[in-house]
This record gives sequence, structure tokens and C-alpha cells, in this order.
Amino acid sequence: MARYVVCSAWPYVNNVPHLGTILPLISADMYARFQRMRGHDVVYVTGSDEHGTPIEVDARKKGLDPAVYADMIHRYNVKLFEQYGIKFSLYSRTESPVHKEFVQEFWAKIYENGYIFTQEDVLPYCPNCKMFLPDRFVEGTCPYCGYEHARGDQCENCGRLLHPTQLINPRCVFCGATPIFKSTLHWFFDLPRLEDKVREWLGKHPAMPENVKKAALNWMGEGLKPRSVTRDNKWGIPAPFPGAEGKTIYVWFDALLGYISATKEYFMKSMGDPDKWKEYWMNRDTKTVFFMGKDNIPFHAIIFPAMLMATHEPYVLPWMISATEYILYGERQFSKSRGIGVWADEALEIAPPDYWRFVLARLRPESKDISFTWKEFQRIIDNELNDDIGNFVHRVLSFIYSRYNGVIPEPGSISSLDKEFEDKIKSTPCRVAEHMEKARIKAASETMLELSRAGNQYLNAKAPWDAYKRDPPSAATTMWLAANAVKSIALMLSPFMPSSAQRLWEMLGMEGRVEEHRWEEACSLDLKPGHRVLKPKPLFKKLPKGFLGKAEDMLEEARRRVSTKRPPVLQ
Ligand code: MF3
Ligand code: ZN
Repeated sequence: MARYVVCSAWPYVNNVPHLGTILPLISADMYARFQRMRGHDVVYVTGSDEHGTPIEVDARKKGLDPAVYADMIHRYNVKLFEQYGIKFSLYSRTESPVHKEFVQEFWAKIYENGYIFTQEDVLPYCPNCKMFLPDRFVEGTCPYCGYEHARGDQCENCGRLLHPTQLINPRCVFCGATPIFKSTLHWFFDLPRLEDKVREWLGKHPAMPENVKKAALNWMGEGLKPRSVTRDNKWGIPAPFPGAEGKTIYVWFDALLGYISATKEYFMKSMGDPDKWKEYWMNRDTKTVFFMGKDNIPFHAIIFPAMLMATHEPYVLPWMISATEYILYGERQFSKSRGIGVWADEALEIAPPDYWRFVLARLRPESKDISFTWKEFQRIIDNELNDDIGNFVHRVLSFIYSRYNGVIPEPGSISSLDKEFEDKIKSTPCRVAEHMEKARIKAASETMLELSRAGNQYLNAKAPWDAYKRDPPSAATTMWLAANAVKSIALMLSPFMPSSAQRLWEMLGMEGRVEEHRWEEACSLDLKPGHRVLKPKPLFKKLPKGFLGKAEDMLEEARRRVSTKRPPVLQ
């Protein structure tokens, strides 16, 4: 039995998650569920990323205390994740007291170890609002592309990283005043001193996917620069450095530590043990696995390991990082301000959570950006979910129910067709597992589908409805094998679609929770003759007739319906 800490990027709480934001949470859930079924010890943690400039800006624009604003959205999102069947060990938040204390102690340790130095920085200061304007607090014209709404840290239009002094016609985002430039002292993390160690670790890392290694080494290309750990924001965790009173910790340097603090909080809450987390994070045998979008790679593959190294404590470094490309809406990037995309709450007005989980697994952009289209959505639900899986299952269970009184028959002799299908049942779960081990969730779902497709072909070839009269032992063999394939599908489906898998499990006449069974059971023909199945109901439904023509209108309407349920600040 191995030990896993499964982590997914902490969603910011300035909005409801859209399909792209919820993807890492669902991917991590599928992976964690899979590893639990393999019999491993799995902790799955994430939480709300509450601090940082954009959230402070949004809250202030709405005249709210950022803490109140973040709290409303946090609560709404927690309910949403529950609806999606995501099984966290703990879904925490960066405002959690355990987290705040952990972050302060962690950075104090790095300071003691000599990796922090101070340096003056010249930053915009709004004389009207009486505050510094870091990152997105200041906007202006990009000196490279002329885009008029470039932010202090980056131009969204050309993607270049900026320093606020480079902005032409800088403006305060709150009041529009022209800032003055004042120098302010900041505390920097001495990343260059850790550069060689990080590079060496990345280079020899066995389980790190190539796309992550490549992106990380590329980012390191010109060498690491010191990064400022402090901000003049009020909304955040107070910096623990001597002389840094009134400053807070930069949001990334706070949130990344949530993976550890949430593990700590989880064991404090579940076992009352404040030290148990060390058996996970300070144990060479633990595998830590991270799920995120590709823009998060540098933080997880470089900065986070460097932070862990700088403690001089025996932390395990990330074992695997699974980073996906982007999901586009048609051709365009999801955009909150322009209302482009599908948000996790509206999505549930169109199809049940399990369907979306499956759709996300099938679309998961593991090697290139993909576009979400309603046509593809329909293909996945109607052809794959409904025809490939749903129909196979239903054909098998209803045949057994009507012809054999629901009792799995005693098989007769085994033909070569039977043998072939038997081998397929026995080998598919291992092949799915190989993909899952590497977090290739899309490929895993494809391989799982192969078994149900093979099942449909097998039924067509063996035609038990004819054989039932003509050659009863052959029909019996067919249905005994097919029932075992259905059981195997129920087990394999469990990480992807937990509640549908459970329904299938019950229709099969099985007791208990399918998720508590072992993955390996999917390879065995342990559904014995004499076992009784229940009266089957269709497992899935196709989308309504004419769906494609109406999809946009349905989304429009879903958006109207959910908008009244959202926290008032998001309506
Ligand atoms: N909130 C960040 C984002 O959405 C991700 C933070 S991951 C963490 O891009 F590890 F830092 F929490
Ligand atoms: Zn101002």
C-alpha cells in the first residue's frame, strides 16, 4: 500500500468555476478515487484561494469587505463541488486559521535559513486612495502592443510580463487617479540560490510528464530571479518578517502552502492529531500528485519545490504534476467579463453532474487546447454514454431479467468468440489502470469504453436472443460473460461517474458501495451463476430531440435561472 496526497489547484473565489476551473478538481477526484480502489492510502485536499489582488479589487468595487465577499463565494462553490460528487478529504480555504499560522511559520523558517532579503522597489501609489497599487491595482497602456487595459504585472493582450513603471498613462483601478511612484521596501525570496537544486531535481525526476518538465525548464531558461514575497495589500496573511509590519504575503506564496496546511487541518479535524501530516509530507515514500491548468506549471514545478527546499526540512517534493491545456468555448477563451463559456452551476441545468464529469474526462485537453462545442457534447452523451455504455448494460440486464428471471445462468462450453471476450474483460481494467497511473484520464476513459463497445459487438455476434432457443448453453455462456463485463464496467466507471456507477451496481444486485471495492475485482469473473440482478432501468438518457439547435438558448435560460441562486455579488 502506498501513500498519496492528491492535490488540485485552489480555485480563486472571485467567481463560480467554469468548466476549465473545475477540470483539475474533477481530474484529481477521479485519480484519487482510482487510487483508493487500488487499496492505497489517499488524502485529497484543496480549497478556496481567497487572497490576492483581483479578489480585493472585485470586493472593493462592490463596496464589500474582501473577507465577506470571499466567504459568500466560497460557500456557494463548496455546495457546487458537492453536487459534482467530488470527494475531498478536506476542502479548506486560505482564510483558515490553521493555514494562516502554517504560512507564517513556514516563511519565518525560510527567513531564518537566510533565503529572504529586502530591497527597495518603486511602485505606483494612489494619492487619492492612499495605497500602493501592485499587480492589477494599476492599469495603463502596454508599452509593447498599445493595449489600453494592461495591468501592472502583465498585459493580457500580448502576454508580456510588465513592471508597473512601464505602463503608459497609469491609472488607479479604483478611482482613476494618476498614481505617483514611491519607493517601498519588499522582502524577496532568493530563488537564484536554489536554482541549481531545482534544475537538478527536475532533470532527474522519473514521474514528471514531459510537457511539465519542458514548460518548467523553459521558464527557467534565463535563470531564476528573486521574487518578492510581500505586498502592501491589506487583504492577505501578515508577513512574519521583522520590520514587515503592515505587509502581507503574495497570494501565490500563501496559497501553495495550502496543500500542506490542509493536510494538517484534515488530520487535526479527523483524528485530533496535529502532527500526523508529517507522516505524509515528510515521508520519502509519499507520492504527491498535482492537477492544474498549464498556466500554473511554474508555480508548482519550480517555486513550490524551491520553497520546500528552503526549509531544510525533509519535505517530499512533487512526485507528479498533471497539467492540462485549455478548454476553449468554440474558438474563444472562457471569459468572465464577456460571459463566454459554460459555468459549473449553469452546466447542471443542462445535464446531471455525472454527465459533465464524463464529458470533461472525454475532452480533457491532455496534449493540446480543445474546444468545447455542443456538437461534441452531444456526441459524447448520445453515442458514448448512451449507446456504448448505457445500451450494452441495458441489453444485458434486461435479457437476464426477462429470460432468466433475473438469475445469471450456468455457462455452457466456451467458444473462441467467448474466450476472446473473456480476455477483453480480464485485460481492460489493467490497461485502464496503466493510463490512470499516469493521470492520462482521457485515454483511460477511452479504454474503458472499448469494453462496452466490444460487449455490444459480442452480443451482436452471439445473438443470444436466437441462441436462447436454438443453443441454450451458448446463450447462457454469453449472458454469464456479459453480466461479468457489466460488473467490470460498474467498477471502472466508479471513479469517473460515482453515482451512476453506484446505480448500476445496485441494478446488478450487488450490495454496499461500489467505490469501496477493489479495482482488481474488475478483472475477475466473480459474478457467479445463480446471482440475481434487479429489474433494470435505463442508466443514461440521450439529450432531448433537436438539442443542437437549442443549446445556446438553453444555456441562456440556464444562466438566467442560476443567476438568482448565485450570491448577490455575482448576479
Ligand atoms: N488560484 C490559482 C489559479 O486559479 C491556483 C492556485 S494553486 C495553489 O490559478 F496551489 F497556489 F493554491
Ligand atoms: Zn485611486
